[in-house]
Amino acid sequence: MSEQPRITLGGSAVVFEPGETLLDVARRNGVEIPTLCHDPRLKPAGACRTCLVEIEGWQRLAPACATRAQAGMVVASENERIDRHRKSLLALYMTDHPQTDERAETGTPNQLLAMAEAFAAPSDWGRLPQKRAGRPEDRNPYIHYEAETCILCARCTRYCDEIESVSAITLAGRGSETTISTADELSLLDTTCEMCGGCIDVCPTGAMSEKMPLALEARPDRALGKVRTTCNYCGVGCQLDLNVDRAGEGGRGRIVKVTSPEPGTTSNDGNLCVKGRFAYEFVHHGDRLTKPLVRGKDGELRETSWEDALQVAAEGLMGVRERHGADGLGFVSSSRCTVEENYLVQKLARVVFGTNNVHQCAAT
Ligand code: SF4
Ligand code: SF4
Ligand code: FES
Repeated sequence: MSEQPRITLGGSAVVFEPGETLLDVARRNGVEIPTLCHDPRLKPAGACRTCLVEIEGWQRLAPACATRAQAGMVVASENERIDRHRKSLLALYMTDHPQTDERAETGTPNQLLAMAEAFAAPSDWGRLPQKRAGRPEDRNPYIHYEAETCILCARCTRYCDEIESVSAITLAGRGSETTISTADELSLLDTTCEMCGGCIDVCPTGAMSEKMPLALEARPDRALGKVRTTCNYCGVGCQLDLNVDRAGEGGRGRIVKVTSPEPGTTSNDGNLCVKGRFAYEFVHHGDRLTKPLVRGKDGELRETSWEDALQVAAEGLMGVRERHGADGLGFVSSSRCTVEENYLVQKLARVVFGTNNVHQCAAT
């Protein structure tokens, strides 16, 4: 049996699987290498160069995310040369990048700012004029692109292409004028964009952000808490994180945005659709029913307890069955329910009331 191939990483011999990148091997062995353009769901692009490592015998530093491990490689992920390069790189990024994190709640946390601080990148390199043009104000209701915060890591365009398979956004222009745009600078509404918001979720600098939180009062002190829940729009059961401003809505808490959990941790692998990510306003809508209501003899709806409401519903259904027979009843369930809930509805119709008049809008 042939021995599994090895590399030396930070002085220790570690095995690797054929096809693994140096970053894969490092992460599997608990060795931290910073990244910005890397996403485990996407093909490596080697665009941001924050993951540079030194390989013995190689003249240049190499991006760990885009370099495949080869047997016998001797790799350093930390040394004075790497640190110098990383600091210079981050300082250069910061020369045309806003230095504040005040809009973090409109997208993902700004990983570039956090990294520049963590690696003590020089902050006195001045400011270079920003030549990157944004798209003309896009009338789509959800996604905002801020050209001056973009570092052209192409995570958003690769996500749109490789995961969503729609390629609604692309790198456009040349040289220092390169930007993220759409064909003919159209509004996202006039492209193949599905408004999944994945481009916001993968952006490491907040250049892609949500429009809805932008409309909220700016509150840099806002402390957002995350509440993990299951999307209730369909039976797929995507996991999502409600980002809640606990002081909002008079202390009852207000959802400020919805994000997806880390890729690889839940069945939706970090992906959401337009409904799961953006259609959360109904939670705070004034017309939303939050308590059971029962119509009295005078025709008016009145608040009541769940026990009372269920009793009234059961009596009403039994009354219809007595007067018209079981097939006088019909049960309609929803594709927003889980498979188990839909199963229970058909059980209720067939076993408790004795009718096969049961339907569910997705017919699953
Ligand atoms: S919302 Fe989704 S489909 Fe639209 S541009 Fe972003 S990644 Fe592409
Ligand atoms: S918008 Fe964000 S994800 Fe897209 S290229 Fe710019 S920095 Fe990268
Ligand atoms: S993370 Fe490797 S080059 Fe960007």
